[in-house]
Amino acid sequence: MNMCLDLALKGEGKTSPNPLVGCVVLNKDGEIISTGYHAKAGENHSERDALLKITPEAARGGTLIVNLEPCSHWGKTPPCTDLIIEYGIKNVVIGMKDPNPKVDGISVLKKAGIDVAVGVLEDKCRELNEVFIVNQTENRTFVALKTATTLDGKISTSTGSSKWITSEDARLEGKRLRAKYDAILTSSSTVKADNPQMQHRKKIILDRNLILSADLEIFKQGECLVYYDEKLPSPANSAITYIKAPVKGDKLDIEFILKDIYKRGIMSVLVEAGGCLSGSFLPYCDKIYNFIAPKILGDENGKNSFVGRNISDIKDSYNFHFTDVKRFEKDILCILKK
Ligand SMILES: NC(=O)c1ccc[n+]([C@@H]2O[C@H](COP(=O)([O-])OP(=O)(O)OC[C@H]3O[C@@H](n4cnc5c(N)ncnc54)[C@H](OP(=O)(O)O)[C@@H]3O)[C@@H](O)[C@H]2O)c1
Repeated sequence: MNMCLDLALKGEGKTSPNPLVGCVVLNKDGEIISTGYHAKAGENHSERDALLKITPEAARGGTLIVNLEPCSHWGKTPPCTDLIIEYGIKNVVIGMKDPNPKVDGISVLKKAGIDVAVGVLEDKCRELNEVFIVNQTENRTFVALKTATTLDGKISTSTGSSKWITSEDARLEGKRLRAKYDAILTSSSTVKADNPQMQHRKKIILDRNLILSADLEIFKQGECLVYYDEKLPSPANSAITYIKAPVKGDKLDIEFILKDIYKRGIMSVLVEAGGCLSGSFLPYCDKIYNFIAPKILGDENGKNSFVGRNISDIKDSYNFHFTDVKRFEKDILCILKK
């Protein structure tokens, strides 16, 4: 199953809206005879990828191991259960049940007389497909947030000086994280302050008052979706997708934007913004990547990583739990989930 998870990761960033799946096939003597993975949405599922590399004769009486329940319905590709049965597989080992209610692979396989074991390394399997699980069970986009702070939780000095808080290896990891997500999201304030490139295939920018000019670095690469106040006239620029959004209080309605990006097929988003927008996203946030540098500003006017409300009781804090901590040469990365 660990091999399946490693194989599945080869499709990271390319399978959305599908899950990450890897598969290992053993012959009747328990020897590995094939492996496969789901490389890209629309391409073969991992079981099909693995089985089509071998003959039914080689696989007959063997075992198929896969991190997600095999599909039993027609999507863009035929049901994997049909091929598993056709190949005469005797045992199927599954990491986790598919949260998609259309999938009923376990009973189909059992009805065909195959021995099925479910729940092997289930926690790891669920973690790998955390985005897919949220999409399938809650019909919404998975929201992650990345921030880089000093030890005292600051993202810049009071004058906005922030380059650089973390060292190069941590910043590189930050860039790598982007590739896991269908889109990245930021604010007009951050774009205006830093004129960042934010390399990604899809970028979402919240620019309520349409203050950003189209010649900024962020617009030079990837597909850009800009949300703005629905009361303003539509801007004329065919290279950028401008989308009207309602304003709630004096801010763009984040809930509307999250529903809209889901309708547009964006299954996961990474928020990269300053303290104001990051603070506003906390109630919607499934996961936080917080890089921490061993620097302390000790300046009460330095900018905080999360702002936007006043609370007096610690019980009212947003509560996350640490799922991992990674060490870089100088910095650390804390990964937290709701
Ligand atoms: N260290 C890091 O990880 C990191 C990452 C990114 C940026 N930064 C730094 O952060 C600084 C900018 O921080 P900032 O606090 O000024 O800007 P920000 O948090 O990036 O964005 C603030 C803007 O976001 C919009 N916004 C805020 N709350 C909202 C809500 N509830 N709903 C909808 N829109 C909302 C508002 O735009 P409107 O006023 O247009 O409505 C607001 O002005 C920059 O200096 C940048 O260098 C640091």
